[in-house]
Amino acid sequence: MAFESDYIWLEGKFIPFGEAKLHFLTSSLHYGTSLFEGIRSYSTQNGPAIFRLRDHLERLIQSTKILGIEEFPYTLDQIYDASIKLVRMNNMEECYIRPLVYIKEGGWNLSVTNVKIDMGIAVWKWTNYLGESALKNGVRANVSSFPRHHPNIMMTKGKIAGNYVNSVLAKSESLRGGFDEAIMLDPNGNVSECTGENIFVVRNGIIYTTPRNSVLEGLTRDSIIKIASDLGYSVVEETITRDQLYISDEVFVTGTAAEVIALREIDYRKIGTGMTGPVCAALQKIYSDIIHGRNEKYEMWIDYVYPDSVKNSAAVKSALG
Ligand SMILES: Cc1ncc(COP(=O)(O)O)c(C=O)c1O
Repeated sequence: MAFESDYIWLEGKFIPFGEAKLHFLTSSLHYGTSLFEGIRSYSTQNGPAIFRLRDHLERLIQSTKILGIEEFPYTLDQIYDASIKLVRMNNMEECYIRPLVYIKEGGWNLSVTNVKIDMGIAVWKWTNYLGESALKNGVRANVSSFPRHHPNIMMTKGKIAGNYVNSVLAKSESLRGGFDEAIMLDPNGNVSECTGENIFVVRNGIIYTTPRNSVLEGLTRDSIIKIASDLGYSVVEETITRDQLYISDEVFVTGTAAEVIALREIDYRKIGTGMTGPVCAALQKIYSDIIHGRNEKYEMWIDYVYPDSVKNSAAVKSALG
């Protein structure tokens, strides 16, 4: 099984992979009321390092708040430590880290009042998400016939499992239609985001991305906005229409799984030159350097799994004077 590892952290304990079981009558399974995160660890010259771990775990706790859960039973530090230890215990380097919060008891009256919450964390070896050639050549997308959630119907800032039915509908349609990814429009007909990525457009040297209204506030989106601004690009958060995508010089998407990937074709229309464009390529390069611990300027975004063995980091250098 591709997801196999030695240990899973479940309800506060590290247990063997095969013992990580939940009961069939777990209400979150029935009503989509679990909450999750998708986090990645990368190889660096100082061993594995996790990208924006605290930010992801903060978003996980925010998701519980958005769903209306009144008491989350762990501190951020506890689940941060559990994540780091789990990567160590499983001897992982490049891996995906999946925390999942669920209703352990209650929730059958379709409410999150008086429920007991618990969670687990799994890690598994990472394999490429959009295919090997996606980085270089970009991928093909279509505008989905499924619109993105209205923000007052599903809470789009939370990674709530039930929200992902929307992504599953759109992505299945795209893959069956021979595309690699789906672009979803918001309920007003403007561009929202992809099934697991935020979207950016480059026109005449300016980078645009959609406003936050209907999208998940992606941490890769946030990182790319900061990196691009530091490189001197104007980054504008503005409503983007479907036809603006068609006439852009570049369109690219960002997400933990996909990283930074160009959309080379949308709805059978070639975007720009039909390859990964220069702005996307420049951002891909810096992003790759950061996640692999090769860029000291953004080293605050990575947490080494074995901090004691870190020799070359800026943090250690400055501690040593
Ligand atoms: C719907 C959706 N939009 C955007 C993203 C990108 O978010 P991030 O960059 O934090 O992975 C994700 C992935 O979590 C997502 O599921």
